[in-house]
Amino acid sequence: MVTEEKIGNNIPLDGAEGHVTGTSEYVSDISKIENELIVDFFYSTEPHGEIINIDLEEARKISGIVGLYTYKDIEGENKFGPIIKDEVLLAESILEYVGQPIVIIAGESKKAIKLAKKTIKIEIKKLPHILSIEEAIEKNQFIGETRVIERGDIEKEFQKAEYILEGNTRNGGQEHFYLESQAAIAYPQENNTLEIISSTQNPTEVQNVIAEILGIPFNKIVVKTRRMGGAFGGKETQATHPAAMAALVAMKTKRPARIVLSCDDDMITTGKRHEFYNKYKVAFTKEGLITALKVEFFSNGGYSNDLSTSIRERAMFHAENAYFIPNIKTIGKVCKTNLPSNTAFRGFGGPQGMLNIESIIEDIAIFLKIDAFDIRRLNCFGIEKNNTTSYEQEVSNNTLPELMDKLLKTSNYKERHKQIEEYNKNSTLYLKGISFTLVMFGISFTARFMNQASALVNIYTDGSIQVSTGGTEMGQGLNTKISQIVADEFCVEPKTVRMMITSTEKNNNTSPSAASASTDLNGTAAKDACQKIKTRLIEFASNYLVKDNSEHKPSINAIEWTYDGIYDKRISNKKITFKELVKNAYLNRISLGERGFYATPQITLFDWNTGRGKPFLYFTNGAAVSEVRIDRFTGELKVLRTDILMDIGKSINPGIDKGQIIGGFIQGMGWLTTEELKYSEKGELLSHSPTTYKIPNIQDIPEVLNVDWIENGKNVVNIRQSKAVGEPPLMTSISVWTAVKHALSFISNGEIPKLDAPATSEEILKAMSRFPISMKV
Ligand code: MTE
Ligand code: HPA
Ligand code: MOS
Repeated sequence: MVTEEKIGNNIPLDGAEGHVTGTSEYVSDISKIENELIVDFFYSTEPHGEIINIDLEEARKISGIVGLYTYKDIEGENKFGPIIKDEVLLAESILEYVGQPIVIIAGESKKAIKLAKKTIKIEIKKLPHILSIEEAIEKNQFIGETRVIERGDIEKEFQKAEYILEGNTRNGGQEHFYLESQAAIAYPQENNTLEIISSTQNPTEVQNVIAEILGIPFNKIVVKTRRMGGAFGGKETQATHPAAMAALVAMKTKRPARIVLSCDDDMITTGKRHEFYNKYKVAFTKEGLITALKVEFFSNGGYSNDLSTSIRERAMFHAENAYFIPNIKTIGKVCKTNLPSNTAFRGFGGPQGMLNIESIIEDIAIFLKIDAFDIRRLNCFGIEKNNTTSYEQEVSNNTLPELMDKLLKTSNYKERHKQIEEYNKNSTLYLKGISFTLVMFGISFTARFMNQASALVNIYTDGSIQVSTGGTEMGQGLNTKISQIVADEFCVEPKTVRMMITSTEKNNNTSPSAASASTDLNGTAAKDACQKIKTRLIEFASNYLVKDNSEHKPSINAIEWTYDGIYDKRISNKKITFKELVKNAYLNRISLGERGFYATPQITLFDWNTGRGKPFLYFTNGAAVSEVRIDRFTGELKVLRTDILMDIGKSINPGIDKGQIIGGFIQGMGWLTTEELKYSEKGELLSHSPTTYKIPNIQDIPEVLNVDWIENGKNVVNIRQSKAVGEPPLMTSISVWTAVKHALSFISNGEIPKLDAPATSEEILKAMSRFPISMKV
């Protein structure tokens, strides 16, 4: 007998067995079919310049080279972009970054392509370039409009403030480091149509952009995505370019065309997390109550907008993080530089916004000589009052105080804080630090229209089920969670539900799988489809179950649908299985398929003129305590212990959610400690491989890592009272960075230590060297 709900169980990740045995198919695993071409591209080695001449003569002569295409070969539009149409697939007259594609190369072999690349000659007239945010500010080079959110009167508050601190913070970019690089295959089909297999979070955008580049209607392109070997935001918009290159080749040659970027080229040519430089001024009382804050965010957008303006907006929405600041003004600008266009990365600007305020609070604590925890507790959003954000969205069902109080106890923070003070007094080799930070992350796409999803549910006559949604699987467990939701709607085992390949021909006009909201959106759409079918099946069952019974008339209210079977409660000895029910429904011509739809309720269109709106359906919250140790001579950092406590509502799959929390935290730790993007003066990425770009490995993981979440069934606005979990845990890693700051404060003689992110050993050493050595030997 199976009576237990499938929601809340640790069903293994859909496809996990294939992943570990090597049978799961990624784009480069798909068998080559006859005639297939390899696609690659020749890219700019200059950060800024004018193309004087492109010489392809020698390349054309190479045997095995089938096609060489420049922007002139594009029959549709060479201009696109998710927000502003300011991107080109292939450079026209101006080159804007090192890595910018100029010529698409189609060949029979990698060898031929390699040779062709050596012979292509591009004559370039160099133009002055800029790489840094500072230069862009100086030259007034921005993308899009400036955004402002303002509440209260900061200037008045600054005038009467007890204390004011002013300064800046900086955090670096981050490479996505997905294990599967950008990849796609285009198959030409009859009547000038194409089928594309793409490793993308966003099949619809790949479809639309390809159609526009080829100058044909959207319905001539079908894009399919089985899964990605990781994406992390890097395939929300930037999977489009390689797919479009393959599509162009397939259309021109009528041959299948496959592109798989080498890991180095992927790192060199695609965008990353945005580097941010922020100026701030904060007013506070002697108790550490923040009364006013002004923040100016400057992000490094790269050469085009991509999602930069939207990412900057999310940074602004999270400028205050989990703290109520009565007078606040945030200004956000995107800088245009000669780098690849930066893009979505787990957190989507949220981490950059939060790091700034968490850094400010750590500084206030050092300045006032108060435990930073007490300052955070004092300023944390309240339950009844002090519970509206700078843009005046109410923080409802606020679990932050509960998280703070619980984690304070379970982490033994206060005691350890004291121990660290003692330890540092006597330690000559190491310094320790501890920090407790919060996360309050808004869930919903900040662009209202994107918060919609559809799903297709088909039941077969043997009772097995297929589900298709616009959501894509990148390892985050979306498909597993949706199969659990569907299984639970029909009271069947999740293994009877098969999640189908994501395809634009099954679900149209889909949003990317992003903003952590994929289960919320696609799961609810799937549930909608299930409920429509269920309504028909209940009606059918009400007739079917009384058909040989003269005592009872059909009644849908009498139907009980359980894991044990479906029955009429008045005749409970006659139970039928789901399989029997659907088989008989089919014989009686009841439709066993349905399309479901969901549009997130309650959220409003954000008004940027007033800086007001309700962009988020709810917030996912978290708290973290990290203890670190730094080597006073080398700057080496070790994270000794981290405790994370989240509010993820009622978990649909605790195993997967725990994986997301740990993975998010570690990925964030990489961003803030070891991952550093280094460029040459020309804007060539120097750290373009694992030998020069350091992501966390097993030795970097905290020696003690405790992960837990609170029981919260109050998030009734979302499916099964769950909360999105994909991105929020990344920001628990901020506790590691602020703990470094705390450690440094023990040798800074009361001064606020200046620390940028990432806090690499080099950066920590630099920070320490600013203070005279005061060592007891
Ligand atoms: N987890 C894995 N394993 N791989 C990924 O690429 N991407 C993250 C997060 N977790 C990612 C991941 C990002 S950036 C987002 S927005 C969410 O998953 C997207 O999936 P969701 O909406 O289903 O949470
Ligand atoms: N989050 C993630 N991805 C997005 C968003 C967002 O808010 N808006 C557009 N793409
Ligand atoms: Mo995630 S950055 O929203 O793809």
